[in-house]
Amino acid sequence: MDKIENHINISYGTSALLELEDELISKQYSSIFVLVDSNSKTYCLNRFFKHCSIDVTAVLKMVAGEENKNLNTCQKIWEDLSILGADRNSVLINLGGGVVTDLGGFVACTFKRGIDFYNIPTTLLAMVDASVGGKTGIDLGALKNQIGIIQEPQKVIIESGWLETLPNEELRSGFAEMLKHGLIANPDYWNTLKTLKEISPKIMIDYIKPSIAEKTKIVLEDPYEKGLRKILNFGHTLGHAIESFYLTHSQKPRLLHGEAIAVGMVLEAYLATHCSGLSKSIAEEVKETFDKFFPKVDICAEDQTAILDLIGHDKKNKAGRVNFVLLKAIGEPDVDVSVPQEFFSKAFQFYHSV
Ligand SMILES: NC(=O)c1ccc[n+]([C@@H]2O[C@H](COP(=O)([O-])OP(=O)(O)OC[C@H]3O[C@@H](n4cnc5c(N)ncnc54)[C@H](O)[C@@H]3O)[C@@H](O)[C@H]2O)c1
Ligand SMILES: [Zn+2]
Repeated sequence: MDKIENHINISYGTSALLELEDELISKQYSSIFVLVDSNSKTYCLNRFFKHCSIDVTAVLKMVAGEENKNLNTCQKIWEDLSILGADRNSVLINLGGGVVTDLGGFVACTFKRGIDFYNIPTTLLAMVDASVGGKTGIDLGALKNQIGIIQEPQKVIIESGWLETLPNEELRSGFAEMLKHGLIANPDYWNTLKTLKEISPKIMIDYIKPSIAEKTKIVLEDPYEKGLRKILNFGHTLGHAIESFYLTHSQKPRLLHGEAIAVGMVLEAYLATHCSGLSKSIAEEVKETFDKFFPKVDICAEDQTAILDLIGHDKKNKAGRVNFVLLKAIGEPDVDVSVPQEFFSKAFQFYHSV
């Protein structure tokens, strides 16, 4: 596997889309493919071609949704690429949210042992998080991101214009990751975000770059998650389990990634008051902030048990111990903190308290 270079290649704005055309031509790719999902096809593809009028070999499509971030979809795209004559000198442009950039990146990294790919994230979450940092992958049944590769794309192009068509709850989902960046790395950024009056595309524009800066700083220090990078998983140990649970229970309300990790961050803030010395007042501040922006998810005792069962599969576990990233203070995370089971139900009580 190629090493992640000591820089992450990110360009901003519509000018970056214009420049992409020249870049693709100069790289003399044998064929150019664009991967979209059903929504990015509807809302983003025309605009992409408006700004980047490159001749593409084909637009490949997948059905939108986390439930399609799986091996079946990969197989379909590998087959499409193969039938359409893609070779090792082909390139794949992932135009979509985190599902498209995660899965498209994985497809590219594995097709003929790896072809170039570009990420053009079209959701807030994919801009500030999923498309940056080289993690590609797919889910294995209900288990999130179990199969994947760490490989930087040729470039990530961040253009906030895509956000205009993004549903509000999707915007909020991305905002959860931005709050996370503040909580784990930058108290000033957290303090700014927590006082925002609303989450709108116009307001978010100013905060995309600072979030990406926090993430890239962490990834560059530890691209393969040997230590520091683990802090990006704050809220995700419980958050992923919650997301998996709701994904596999179709009679329950749909929960987006950011919405699930928002709950995870509140639960883990409570755990931190017992296990990593976070003050109760900061845990309250975290809860109040998420309560302000996110609707409460009603998680009954039975569902809590099922969610806790899923934690056993978390990728951060080692030798049977459940490891958490917990805060000592805002901007001061601690990794590999093992948490006694007895605190879990109290954490849910804290989350549900008014
Ligand atoms: N690789 C990483 O480091 C990393 C980090 C965080 C999250 N993730 C992954 O990212 C995924 C979540 O990403 P997401 O929130 O972008 O989900 P998503 O890709 O499912 O996009 C959310 C929804 O918005 C639609 N959409 C995309 N762009 C749109 C636009 N401009 N206008 C209207 N609709 C649009 C999509 O079709 C989808 O229905 C999860 O699978 C998560 O595991 C990966
Ligand atoms: Zn996340």
